[in-house]
Amino acid sequence: MQTFASTISKVFYGTLIHSISIKEIEYILQGLLFIDNQGKIAKIVKNVSLDKLDAALEGVHTDKLVRLTGDQFVIPGFVDTHIHAPQYAFCGNGHDLPLLEWLDTYTFPAESRFADKDYARRLYSKSVARSLRNGTTAACWYATIHLESCKELVQVIQEQGQRAYVGKVNMNQNSPDFLVETTESSVRDTRAFIEYVKDVNSKIEHKPLVTPIITPRFAISCTSDLLAELGKLAEEYQLPIQSHLCENMNEIGFTMSLFPESVNYTAVYADHGLLNDRTVMAHCVHMKDEELDLIKEKEAGISHCANSNFNLKSGIANVRKMLNKEIKVGLGTDVAGGYTPSILEALRASRTASVALDMESSLVVAELFYLATVGGARVMGLEDTIGNFEVGKEFDAILVNASTDNSPVDIHDHDTVETSFEKYLFVGDDRNHEKIFVQGKEVRIPGAASRK
Ligand code: GUN
Ligand code: FE
Repeated sequence: MQTFASTISKVFYGTLIHSISIKEIEYILQGLLFIDNQGKIAKIVKNVSLDKLDAALEGVHTDKLVRLTGDQFVIPGFVDTHIHAPQYAFCGNGHDLPLLEWLDTYTFPAESRFADKDYARRLYSKSVARSLRNGTTAACWYATIHLESCKELVQVIQEQGQRAYVGKVNMNQNSPDFLVETTESSVRDTRAFIEYVKDVNSKIEHKPLVTPIITPRFAISCTSDLLAELGKLAEEYQLPIQSHLCENMNEIGFTMSLFPESVNYTAVYADHGLLNDRTVMAHCVHMKDEELDLIKEKEAGISHCANSNFNLKSGIANVRKMLNKEIKVGLGTDVAGGYTPSILEALRASRTASVALDMESSLVVAELFYLATVGGARVMGLEDTIGNFEVGKEFDAILVNASTDNSPVDIHDHDTVETSFEKYLFVGDDRNHEKIFVQGKEVRIPGAASRK
């Protein structure tokens, strides 16, 4: 007979911190968190004093036990709901121009290099490693239009062990000659990419971590017939969908001149079968009320990219209004519109943005941590799989040490678990990330400094 202990691969004992609602962070002290052989959370026991530890382990061997020290805690991994893998090449550069000029000047030339799949592998290895190291255990990636390089990104993500949606970008109009497809090649390569990921997934033993996502770059770069074909593909394969929406005023004006039949920008996607409960729309800075209502009606999610919205001078998205309408919202780094692949930085920029917009209704810590974890999981449709430490969910997590040797955070005698955690959120960085786990397995990050 199979015993409970034989189904367990790992147990953590110590402080566990996660979001249990948008209003509440739960601090579990002296917690025991059991992970099973499938990487799922099998059981959580709270307030286990040291003298009760042996009994509480229920026969699980101590070599599977990880005992956390006083300044260590385990939190759910971060969810990055919007990031461009190729743009990591110029991450930190080029924030002197607004969106459309930025695309023409920096982004499209940089993305054209991904016609070379060897370059793609080298660059993508760095993008994914940096994202993981920053604690992103699940990400919604944009690649480029190039099929072979998209496959490289899938391979790199699988080798490094991140949970991910990966999009082959579609663009067949208003794009430079060196970065454009025809409708036929765009649809054909998207189908080929989907079939490729399905095939790769059929050959692995664990539950697949990579899912293809339909990725029209934005309405400007896709003709109506291409958008409609992509809507059909999303329906046929029941895939998630991602794009950009209402990021910049010139973008909105241009879009409406291209799609006069649609009542507004959001409706352009809806009219082409691209707005549903599997859709992730990035930015949504300049949304009319009826557009937010349409997002809500279709149960689509929004990726809030505050860092990028500042850098490209796009504006400030009204997250409070989205939350009041009970729209799903998560955080996105939007590298390289955003200058960092860190969701901690996205969380900080989100607070600054909310204060700048309206001091009275700015986002508070519990809300920000929720957006970075559970909110992102909901936007990706993964709320039953990841986001917090509910029994039955998969264990995607960060082992944080607020006092590593070179920690940017100083913890003093007067600090509590709550103040230490908040310090990590606002002062910490990847130096505090001692270990990263996806689906219960520790992720080995190439190039990362060795951790304890
Ligand atoms: N809109 C269309 N493409 C892009 C992109 O690559 N980044 C951002 N921020 N907005 C876009
Ligand atoms: Fe983007």
